[in-house]
Amino acid sequence: MSVIELRGIKREYRMESKSKRSSLSEDAVIVRALRGVDFSAEAGEFVSVMGPSGSGKSTLMNILGCLDKPTAGTYTLDGIETSKSDSDTFAYIRNRKIGFVFQSFNLLTRTTALENVELPLFYRRRLLNEKKQTAQIRKERAIAALREVGLDKRMDHFPSQLSGGQQQRVAIARAMVNDPAFILADEPTGNLDTGMTLEIMGLFQELNRQGKTIIMVTHEPELAAYTRRIITLRDGELVSDKQVNKRRNAPDDLAQWKKDHVLLAEAS
Ligand SMILES: Nc1ncnc2c1ncn2[C@@H]1O[C@H](COP(=O)(O)OP(=O)(O)O)[C@@H](O)[C@H]1O
Ligand SMILES: [Mg+2]
Repeated sequence: MSVIELRGIKREYRMESKSKRSSLSEDAVIVRALRGVDFSAEAGEFVSVMGPSGSGKSTLMNILGCLDKPTAGTYTLDGIETSKSDSDTFAYIRNRKIGFVFQSFNLLTRTTALENVELPLFYRRRLLNEKKQTAQIRKERAIAALREVGLDKRMDHFPSQLSGGQQQRVAIARAMVNDPAFILADEPTGNLDTGMTLEIMGLFQELNRQGKTIIMVTHEPELAAYTRRIITLRDGELVSDKQVNKRRNAPDDLAQWKKDHVLLAEAS
């Protein structure tokens, strides 16, 4: 069964005309941000979403992330028909089924790495009326997630005490702590330098190798080359859907980059 199944997804934004003088002031402009997108992804895929600015990537992300509902079409996530769900179910799906990773990390600054990763476990209890997980169980789950991203030894650090790459790894641990159906990453390395970018791509490749499903928006073809499949949007339509033939290996590229970097530093 597909983890994600989009059928005929349309999203139209209605822009009221601003002109009060115009006799046409009651008219509205309709922006067709998505014009009937069909897309499905199986468990274990690693998909890049590409396309020029304005092509509908953010609109598609918002729908995949259950932050927004389509104007038409159906979205089935892990067997749940999301368009029919009420806002509580929508919130439940967001918390349990999707792990978000943003360009700007979105960590709470006065909160340790460990507490940042524990947060979704608190929300989960509130949403599900679950029995209280003991603080100890929550802590153990968060530490396990931090271990997966190689940061368990930094769990007491605040975000300001971590590099950008480390902060993004904390955000990835937070995204995984509820064992979601898929990770949704929006330009996850947009704020990182080349070395940290390759580290994060290596981490995603490793998590994907372990079976995690990842959907990543990027406008950089070099980054899409680390994923397994690339879909491309143009003017709100899915115009291409291709498997990546010669997938690049991020750890290899990182090793090469470090070599070149050190050589350059020595030469200068
Ligand atoms: N809230 C909105 N209201 C009106 N138009 C919007 C809104 N959000 C996006 N659009 C329009 O929808 C189209 C797709 O936008 P978007 O999904 O942000 O593309 P991308 O992320 O690929 O740059 C663009 O024409 C954009 O101007
Ligand atoms: Mg965008």
